[in-house]
Amino acid sequence: KYEKIWLAFGIGCLFVFLTVIGVSAFAEGNQPPSCLTTIDPEKVDQTPPFDKPGLVKTGNNEYQLNIVVSAFAFTPNQIEIPKGAKVTINVTSKDVIHGFEVAGTNVNMMVEPGYINTLTKTFDKTGEYTILCNEYCGAGHHMMTGRIKVV
Ligand code: CUA
Repeated sequence: KYEKIWLAFGIGCLFVFLTVIGVSAFAEGNQPPSCLTTIDPEKVDQTPPFDKPGLVKTGNNEYQLNIVVSAFAFTPNQIEIPKGAKVTINVTSKDVIHGFEVAGTNVNMMVEPGYINTLTKTFDKTGEYTILCNEYCGAGHHMMTGRIKVV
């Protein structure tokens, strides 16, 4: 009799775990970042769209946010985004591997020299979000911050 209770408990736990994994993978979009395009890290400043980094409107409520990352800064590092905007974020590095994390959201990418990493995010909530580098990149690592303001 007790075996049956434990068996049911075990199956119940398994179900809970699978649900948690499923929800975090699909509902919250915790998927690994993808590397789509290559770029010459020495010519980032001359290569569109990174020759003019920043937020660009691409459609009705759709934007592209192009950010150049280098030791030890994000360019630009102060960004204002209209509430509800669907933003495709492109990042690339001019030197070493950095991270691009928007604290409090599911935006978290590696920034690799030679590659453009991309992720699309809709900003539905107003507020201020801190941009962080979460990949140790040298002496100024802890100073690499920026801010996204959703207004
Ligand atoms: Cu850039 Cu740590």
